[in-house]
Amino acid sequence: MIPDELIERIREEADIVSIIGEYVKLKRVGNSQRGPCPFHHGKDPNFSVTSHGYNCFVCHESGSVFTFVQKHLGMDFVESVKFVGAKVGIEVPDVSRRAEERDPREPYWEVNATAADLFRTQLWDTPAGQAAREYLESRGISREDADRFGIGYAPRDQLVVRDSLRALGFDDARQLEAGLQVVSEGRPDPRFRFRDRLMFPIYDAPGHVAGFGGRILGEGQPKYLNSPESEVFSKRKLLYGLNWAKQAIRKADRLIVVEGYFDAIRLMLAGITEVVAPMGTALTEQQAALIQKYTKHVFLLYDSDQAGLKATFRSGDELLANGVSVRVISLPDGEDPDTYVAENGAEGFERAARESVDIFERKIQILERGGWFTDLSRKREALDKLLPTIRVTADGLTRDLYIARTSEVAGVSRDMLDRELKASPKQQRPPSQPPPPAGDFGPPPDEETGAPPVRQRDRRLNHSAIGVRAERELVRMLLHHRRYVEPAAERIGADTFADPIYRILFTELTAGDSDVPLDELAAGLDEESTEVLQELMNENGGLDRAEETVNGSINALLSRELSDRLREIDRLLPLADSDQKDTLIREKSRLTVEMKALGRPRWKSFNSSRS
Ligand code: CTP
Ligand code: MN
Repeated sequence: MIPDELIERIREEADIVSIIGEYVKLKRVGNSQRGPCPFHHGKDPNFSVTSHGYNCFVCHESGSVFTFVQKHLGMDFVESVKFVGAKVGIEVPDVSRRAEERDPREPYWEVNATAADLFRTQLWDTPAGQAAREYLESRGISREDADRFGIGYAPRDQLVVRDSLRALGFDDARQLEAGLQVVSEGRPDPRFRFRDRLMFPIYDAPGHVAGFGGRILGEGQPKYLNSPESEVFSKRKLLYGLNWAKQAIRKADRLIVVEGYFDAIRLMLAGITEVVAPMGTALTEQQAALIQKYTKHVFLLYDSDQAGLKATFRSGDELLANGVSVRVISLPDGEDPDTYVAENGAEGFERAARESVDIFERKIQILERGGWFTDLSRKREALDKLLPTIRVTADGLTRDLYIARTSEVAGVSRDMLDRELKASPKQQRPPSQPPPPAGDFGPPPDEETGAPPVRQRDRRLNHSAIGVRAERELVRMLLHHRRYVEPAAERIGADTFADPIYRILFTELTAGDSDVPLDELAAGLDEESTEVLQELMNENGGLDRAEETVNGSINALLSRELSDRLREIDRLLPLADSDQKDTLIREKSRLTVEMKALGRPRWKSFNSSRS
């Protein structure tokens, strides 16, 4: 940290007119100096400099002498203070860490950087690197290009780089810690992690080699293998390319976000240096917070497939939450940034960028094209997709615009939207069907095999414990006392069950005769359902109160269904026109009566009517 009073002294001493005057031709007009604006590259003297700072009347760039130096010369804040300080003869003490406080991550950076070097040698100077050289060539990357990004090759023979590292003094323990070697299950000895892969060193913002992404040559799984998560390598925090892009981002005051290594490299080679890639899908909260330090203007350029769209909107929300403005660049179907820019160059890119749309507008476009604003319940769902984005948007003006736009496109009042926005998002959806958050990708695939993770099926996920217990108790009783199956089937259907397993069991029970033996019943079940069936058969508690339990559970489930629908009606009402309102209100009062009826003593007989 530079002490504040030092910054102030430098600001006061600095002759802003002569410093800016080195880069902009200024002329005195009244008590300010005027010239052509270097930010929007204007020709007329709309750019004004006074002792307080600078300001452009056209593009509204403004700031202090430090901001000018940062934006125009691509420096960060500390660099700009040193730079201006040097001009006025005030020395800024070195604010970086003192030499004896070695960063604990240095040993990892060191071994990684050395490995990167060895990978490069393998790629260019060995017969083993032949296939990788051909692969690179097939992707249109020359040696000179590749060297700019430190690209290398990890040979198939896993001993080569391991032994070279050993010889250079990096023992196995250190290679393991850095994730260059891994211990895999069922093998006594560690193995070298990267074998027969094209290697992209991944740098952190200051330029240390934090880890690697290794691409298979050609087809196969996993396509990319990255360094394992560690002290120095965190996929969620790093942004591929930031080390090269950071100055350019400040200078251009914009950032392009693409999906992958090749995309980022292709743009940089085309001269668009202000580009980064999060490694795999959407931006995380940490990455968005990092970006916001460099610029408030981001363009998202993801693949034009479904996954790309999801990642776009999820990234968008993270950025909006950080007060960043977000535009979406769309490419023709089937193109990714790599292929598109390889074909169309920087010019093609800028053309696409000019046609970019604001992220919120893009969302509306997609909803409109899908006919989401036509009928009432779809409109409700559409709003549920738009409101979370409005809610997270940190910039007040942008948020206001989004509200106005939503009001217009959905045909609902701003008041109603304001009320909805204030309500907590949790109360807003019926508990039985919360949509997954936009852009939910689930857990990442297994890194070794690329296979999707085996997800523990959480059957209870979205349902109140009571509801699920009622489902379980009902099925258990019906299994033990088949005579209740038929009367139960008269009152509820299988779709009343939220839990898929209990739904299956109920369906099986109601499908056949009440004397179908258990093993026949189990014959058509999958493994998981069979297990649950066994479990329920082994539980004998409370079997003497079967009728009471069956009735009580059915009432609980019906009442859950009714209250879900009542809640849904409450959500639809504010959006409804007057005809729709009438219908909804009539339904509501009918359901309320039914609901009351269920509240009466639970053990009324099956034969009595429900209302
Ligand atoms: N990625 C990853 N692990 C995977 C797949 C992808 O880390 N198993 C990351 C990589 O950073 C990759 C990015 O996600 O660059 C985008 O993935 P994808 O579109 O599949 O790769 P491309 O960059 O298009 O790779 P290529 O052009 O080589 O096919
Ligand atoms: Mn891709």
